[in-house]
Amino acid sequence: MRRHSWAEPYKIKAVELLKMTTREQRDAAIREAGYNTFLLRSEDVYIDLLTDSGVGAMSDRQWAGLMRGDEAYAGSANFYRLRDAVEEYYSYKYTVPTHQGRGAENILSRILISDGDYVPGNMYFTTTRLHQELAGGTFVDVIVDEAHDSQSEHPFKGNVDIGKLDALVDEVGADSIPYVCIATCVNMAGGQPISLQNLREVRAWCDEHGVRLVHDMTRVAENAHFIQRREQDCEDKSIREIVYEICALTDVATMSSKKDAMVNIGGFLAMNDPDLYERACALVVVYEGLHTYGGMAGRDMEALAIGIGESVDDDHIHARVGQVEYLGNRLREAGIPIVLPIGGHAVFPDARRMLPHIPQERFPAQALAAELYRASGVRAMERGIVSAGRDAATGENHAPALELIRLTIPRRVYTQAHMDVTAEAMMDVAERADRIEGLRFVYEPKMLRFFQARFEPVRS
Ligand code: F0G
Repeated sequence: MRRHSWAEPYKIKAVELLKMTTREQRDAAIREAGYNTFLLRSEDVYIDLLTDSGVGAMSDRQWAGLMRGDEAYAGSANFYRLRDAVEEYYSYKYTVPTHQGRGAENILSRILISDGDYVPGNMYFTTTRLHQELAGGTFVDVIVDEAHDSQSEHPFKGNVDIGKLDALVDEVGADSIPYVCIATCVNMAGGQPISLQNLREVRAWCDEHGVRLVHDMTRVAENAHFIQRREQDCEDKSIREIVYEICALTDVATMSSKKDAMVNIGGFLAMNDPDLYERACALVVVYEGLHTYGGMAGRDMEALAIGIGESVDDDHIHARVGQVEYLGNRLREAGIPIVLPIGGHAVFPDARRMLPHIPQERFPAQALAAELYRASGVRAMERGIVSAGRDAATGENHAPALELIRLTIPRRVYTQAHMDVTAEAMMDVAERADRIEGLRFVYEPKMLRFFQARFEPVRS
């Protein structure tokens, strides 16, 4: 039988019970949380679509792997299994474990970036850009223009515009560019992929200019899914083959394994250059831990090594992205504006279009996420002006074209019925969108403000 559904290649062995809340309880909870969904208590949330980070369901094999934890301070057997898995599936020879992705970003930025450098990338990510700035660098966006247009149906909105790289090198010179950083399945663009062809062009550009190519591989398997579905001559390649091919085109990788690789905590910095590895080992002991655990328990490295293998399975990734598409299509059919094409890890309703009466400086996406929670107990995240933060040099707000909320789907956690409830909740909120009020800051942290900022409603 030829199957068209995206049904899951697993069945459920244990469940986690959820608390149901009333509208009154949620009213009080969101007020207490300063209208920031990051400040809600998880027990007050019904369907938690805040993030796909660290919230996936591990397999029975991964849980069994925890029992094989070798908690030696140095030379844990699990480190060697992790290192071998990274080389086998991702091609990188050397692996430095870190407690999560930003630990790897910190080490890499400190090693490679000097004061006054420029770091081009296919759209910013919050923690990545901050570490680049803290190391003295300036992030430069070189993603294709279509990525900033929520309605463009370009199949590879994660692509780099090579013309923008050329313009940067003309302006500042290759010596001021320590590396180009490309993310696979670009988070802030809406989970949008980069094509193999574009990546090859970026590789050639880097070779021509003697610049390293760094890969934020947090969601590389999802990117491989879109390459297999959309790119010419790729439909017969397996996800595993495409993932390997992507990685092999790059020199260094930072990984938040809390996403693709389905562990609750962990990450790594991986590379092929032995000198860079030596420098990373020297720094990881300062910020994370010894180079054979880097802030992870042995058992967590074991679960990660197993998760890497599971993440590149074709049936797994098709079901994973299939579920995201299912939710996206339900919203689309209901006329709710979302980022198109539907991304790999999340659906991104467009707050700018849903709440045109709220100006961007009154945080429409933040207000929409708060209202969605209040209405339904579904927790989303703001991905707009609050997340974008302020310009490091001028102190002015970045004003991104994309003013979105993110309905992020954890891997292997929720059912199709949960997706239906989420769609119904969004429709309910959309019906009375014109009555949603904007917000203003009560407390604004200096760095990564979206995590802990507090707000109050204000009539716009
Ligand atoms: N790079 C990307 C593309 C990410 O999405 C994240 C985390 C990181 C790096 C940092 O990794 O959290 O392990 O330190 N993204 C999470 C999210 C927080 O919700 O999108 P980390």
